Amino acid sequence: MPAPLLEIQKLSVEFRTRSGIVRALENISMKVHRGEIVGVVGESGSGKSVSALTAMGILDPAGHVTSGSINLGGLEVLTATEGVMQQTRGRQASMIFQSPRTALNPIRTVGKQIGDVLRRHENANRQTVREAVIDALKTVRIPDPERRIDAFPFEMSGGMCQRIMIAMALSCRPELLIADEPTTGLDVTTQAAIMDLIRDLSKERNMATMLITHDLAMAADYCDRIVVMHAGHVVENASTEDLFEAPRHPYTAKLMKATPHGEGSLDDIESIAGGLPDLRGELPPCRFSGRCDRFEEICSTPDLTLDEVSEGHFLSCRKPL
Ligand SMILES: Nc1ncnc2c1ncn2[C@@H]1O[C@H](COP(=O)(O)OP(=O)(O)O)[C@@H](O)[C@H]1O
Ligand SMILES: [Mg+2]
Repeated sequence: MPAPLLEIQKLSVEFRTRSGIVRALENISMKVHRGEIVGVVGESGSGKSVSALTAMGILDPAGHVTSGSINLGGLEVLTATEGVMQQTRGRQASMIFQSPRTALNPIRTVGKQIGDVLRRHENANRQTVREAVIDALKTVRIPDPERRIDAFPFEMSGGMCQRIMIAMALSCRPELLIADEPTTGLDVTTQAAIMDLIRDLSKERNMATMLITHDLAMAADYCDRIVVMHAGHVVENASTEDLFEAPRHPYTAKLMKATPHGEGSLDDIESIAGGLPDLRGELPPCRFSGRCDRFEEICSTPDLTLDEVSEGHFLSCRKPL
C-alpha cells in the first residue's frame, strides 16, 4: 500500500467555552489514500466536521489541538504556517460544505467566483481564465456553460449551486477533497446526481476523498471504506464490505439495524439509545458505554485504543460483536 495522502493520528481537539471544556475529539485516527473515498459517519455532534476543519487548518479559534498529528501529502498541518496552509488549501486540499447557496457570493456571477479561485493560484489572463471557467463548468456537468458562466447564484437551483462549489473546489486540481454533508437539503434525485459526480471525479482524478455524511445508505453506496464516529471517538473503521458484512462495534450494529434496508439517516434514529453524552464533563473511556446494552465492568478500564482486529478492520471496543 502506498503512503496515504491524508493521515490523522491520535488527534485530540477541545473547545474552551464559557460552560466548560468540550472534548470534541479524543485520539482519533484515520487515513485516506489516493483514489479512495472514505466515508465518515456518525450522528450530529460526533466530531466529523471538527476533524475535517482541523485537517484543512481552519478550525474555529475556540478550538485547540491538544495532541496528535495530521500529515497531508508530507506536510504536517498542525505546525504549518498560515501562509503555507493558504497555499495548500485549494491547491492540495479542498473542501465543500452543505448549503452551497449561502457559501456563494450572491452579488457575483458564478463564473467570476470560479475565476477568483483560479486567479488566486495561477497567473492567467482574462481569456484563459474564461476558458478555464467554462472547462470547470463542463467538468461538473453544468449544461450550457457558455451561458451559465454569467448567471448569479439566485438564478440557479440548489443542485446547480453545489456543482459550482464543486467546480471551485476542484479548479486547481487538489489531491484531497473533503465533502462535508455535500447533499444536505437537496432532493433525492439531485443528491444522487451530485454524489455520482463526486465519485466519478474522485476516481478519474485519483483524488483522496473524505465524504462526511450522516446517511449510512449513502456511505454504503459511494465509499470504499467507512469510519464510524461516536461522541468524538472513532469506534470502528473498515472497508465498506467488511463493515456491512460483520460490524463489530455495538454502535455500528445499532446504526445498521435502525436503517434496515440501508434507507434513512442517522438523524432519524438519535433516540435509539439515549443521546450523545455531554462532552463537557468527566467521560468514561468508552463514550458509548452509557448507551450500550453489552456494557460490562471491563468497559470502564482506562486506555481504550483503536486496534486492528483483522486486516484493515479497526475497532475500539472491549465487548465487540
Ligand atoms: N466552535 C465551537 N465551539 C464549541 N464547541 C464546538 C464548536 N464547534 C464544534 N463544537 C462541538 O464539537 C463537537 C463536534 O462537533 P462537529 O464536529 O460539528 O459534529 P458533526 O460534524 O459530527 O455533527 C460537538 O459537541 C460540538 O458542539
Ligand atoms: Mg458537521
